[in-house]
Amino acid sequence: MATTPLNETVALVTGASSGIGAATAQELARRGARVILAARRADELQAQADAITTAGGVASILTVDMADPASVARLAEQAPQVYGRVDALVNNAGVGSGPPFARSTPDAIEHIVGVNLLGVMLLTHALLPAMLARKRGAIICVASVAGQIAVDPLYSATKFGVRGFALALRRQLRGSGVSVSVISPGYIRTPLNRNMRQRLPGPEIVANAIARLIVHPRREVVVPGYYRAATGIEGLAPWLVDRGIPVRP
Ligand SMILES: NC(=O)c1ccc[n+]([C@@H]2O[C@H](COP(=O)([O-])OP(=O)(O)OC[C@H]3O[C@@H](n4cnc5c(N)ncnc54)[C@H](OP(=O)(O)O)[C@@H]3O)[C@@H](O)[C@H]2O)c1
Repeated sequence: MATTPLNETVALVTGASSGIGAATAQELARRGARVILAARRADELQAQADAITTAGGVASILTVDMADPASVARLAEQAPQVYGRVDALVNNAGVGSGPPFARSTPDAIEHIVGVNLLGVMLLTHALLPAMLARKRGAIICVASVAGQIAVDPLYSATKFGVRGFALALRRQLRGSGVSVSVISPGYIRTPLNRNMRQRLPGPEIVANAIARLIVHPRREVVVPGYYRAATGIEGLAPWLVDRGIPVRP
């Protein structure tokens, strides 16, 4: 599989206005990549891009609503025009779980699938042909430990879906020069988990792993690594995991 040195890389990071995406954009820029930050909130994106340029890096912003296929198509058209190409796509934008499934609205179901899964597939689909033509590219999909352990019906459905999509795409693209890697974080300290009181690792740990995956692709990385014990138990004895998941009818 071809690797992409970061100082020659143009990276598009979705969900770069906060949390893991913002930390990833900062880290990639620190390692010499030119970074395009995408999300809905232009002010937050600009603040992140300003921090990168102040530190000597190169960054631009593009707004996108990943739930809107027309907006995703616009991003796919605009992004390669910013620095001439997109070498690395970090599919990170995502929304978390809501109320129990029985109380979710059809709109909310469509929204989470649109942002977390359909948007990922559409953006990848739009940017892939140019990567294949150049025989060079790295696609990183941010899934979740909740894509290996079924915890929330909607969130887990989208993250199992992202993993299935990315793992199969990786097989389909073997030898093409375009790598596909999955990163599955456990609980990380970001606005997504603003209500959790426990001490959590910061988003930098995921950002570092993503930067490594662009240069050294891997099938799937779980961060922090200690979550591998839990994913192993889900595979071997799911009934044991049942006991740890709260009942929320
Ligand atoms: N934090 C964790 O514990 C954890 C664990 C496992 C996996 N993850 C995954 O990591 C990724 C990043 O999450 P995070 O924890 O960094 O959360 P976060 O701080 O809430 O960031 C989410 C990002 O996604 C963007 N986003 C949300 N809806 C969007 C939409 N419709 N269109 C475009 N962008 C959208 C947000 O930007 P705007 O609001 O500006 O659009 C924001 O930049 C997600 O895929 C999440 O599922 C997180």
